[in-house]
Amino acid sequence: GITRHYKFDVRMQNVTRLCQTKSIVTVNGQLPGPQITAREGDRVIVKVVNHVQYNLTVHWHGVRQLRSGWADGPAYVTQCPIQTGQSYVYNFTVTGQRGTLFWHAHISWLRVTVYGPIVILPKRGVPYPFPQPYKEVPIIFGEWWKTDTEILINQAMQTGLAPNVSDAFTINGLPGHLYNCSAKDTFKLKVKPGKTYLLRLINAALNDELFFSIANHSLTVVEADAVYTKPFKTDTVLITPGQTTNVLLKTKRHSPNATFLMAARPYATGPAAFDNTTTAGILEYHLPSPVPKSNKNKIQLPLLKPSLPIFNDTTFAANFNKRVRSLATPNFPANVPQKIDRKFFFTVGLGIMGCPQSQTCQGPNNTRVAAAVNNVSFVMPTTALLQAHFFNQNNGVYTTDFPANPPFNFNYTGTPPANIMVSSGTKVVVLPFNTSVELVLQDTSIIGAESHPLHLHGFNFFIVGQGIGNFDPKKDPAKFNLVDPAERNTAGVPSGGWIAIRFLADNPGVWFMHCHLEVHTSWGLKMAWIVRDGKGRKQKLPPPPSDLPKC
Ligand code: C2O
Repeated sequence: GITRHYKFDVRMQNVTRLCQTKSIVTVNGQLPGPQITAREGDRVIVKVVNHVQYNLTVHWHGVRQLRSGWADGPAYVTQCPIQTGQSYVYNFTVTGQRGTLFWHAHISWLRVTVYGPIVILPKRGVPYPFPQPYKEVPIIFGEWWKTDTEILINQAMQTGLAPNVSDAFTINGLPGHLYNCSAKDTFKLKVKPGKTYLLRLINAALNDELFFSIANHSLTVVEADAVYTKPFKTDTVLITPGQTTNVLLKTKRHSPNATFLMAARPYATGPAAFDNTTTAGILEYHLPSPVPKSNKNKIQLPLLKPSLPIFNDTTFAANFNKRVRSLATPNFPANVPQKIDRKFFFTVGLGIMGCPQSQTCQGPNNTRVAAAVNNVSFVMPTTALLQAHFFNQNNGVYTTDFPANPPFNFNYTGTPPANIMVSSGTKVVVLPFNTSVELVLQDTSIIGAESHPLHLHGFNFFIVGQGIGNFDPKKDPAKFNLVDPAERNTAGVPSGGWIAIRFLADNPGVWFMHCHLEVHTSWGLKMAWIVRDGKGRKQKLPPPPSDLPKC
């Protein structure tokens, strides 16, 4: 492969949306930020320069970072933040992946405007395992707040109350004409009749899973999280924050209409308030000119709207997720771990926690909402976990007693037991190199059943099983798909249900795992895995680069 150089100047930029101008954090003044393009096997070097008043890091979401953990990016996990006026060079090689991923800021809520696509093309001369598209188009979903989200989240953390929901969703940074003052801020995709387009869908929204559809057109899913899938047709795609999905769009040969709406709005199962508005874009045909007379007035027809599932359609979600399968061919095998070394059972969900010292919380008896894995709400350390691990200085930074099971058993999806107080700590799980792991993630309904898009850094995992209700360790494993399960880096733990995932811990380092709903991450729905070095020379994490930021 070759080396590709990028420079990210992170600076403030005035941007107007929904009739209001706001100064936002951007990369190179762009929203969405610049696209990173590489071929499988290429080295990517990105110099990030911080010109803003905030501490900053950038994460290359879904890039496996094999033995390059120092470039992964989550603040206080693999690195200390890049401070104002400082820079850091992210240096990594893209191995064994091809498709769409994305990059985003990984500190506080800065990823609201600091994000952009990553396109990994196959090696030169290697074709796609699906029809060669005429054009490829990234479609990246985001969220927009009229207020400053850094102030918003800081206040929310102080009071223990939920932050405001966003004011709009966006497609490629644009809310679309269904919002006030946004007719001009509508994404337009111009297409020719009878061609195949590859749409690279990316959900970079902070807090909402989304349904996406294009009126009168079906979509063929061919790739998810930079892994080829068995192609399947659908009218609607479900995409959680942190997921990427490539779909083929075949345009009509003869279209009576020139324009169709594409739209996205949330899939939400939680008890909390959410933004239930719709972002729209326009699919516009270049009809052959001159347009035949008989067609001329038809072009003026109102836009056809797609129909999307209702906001809490869990049946659609379950069916859609089950249809995503690895391609699993000799060229693109699904290397599902068959023999398991360690099994874990993690509950994920919201709970109640005592108020941190020196704060007043608005819940009953001075409590606050917390989110937890196995009832532990993760506390970010003040120095990076990876440095502490690498230099054997974990004392006072983290402990290695993250529980393999929740502290109590109950009917997770029924009425929760009384007085569940979430504990807190900076706890990790340590795994020897090459441990094969099976992890069941069970949603709890302590505050309410809700789906959680769990994201694992440093690995792809296979979703070998999923179900509604309580996971049954006696019956459910017999039904696991060990042949062609979806291979992803982010998967929705269904509302009131569970998923079982498997991965091989072949990447030494410290790897964050968290809910990709940013509000849940802020509340503590996160933890970390430490994978030790192996014995071989190629099984060790090299020392950090000399410009690694200091805390
Ligand atoms: Cu896309 Cu840890 O995040």
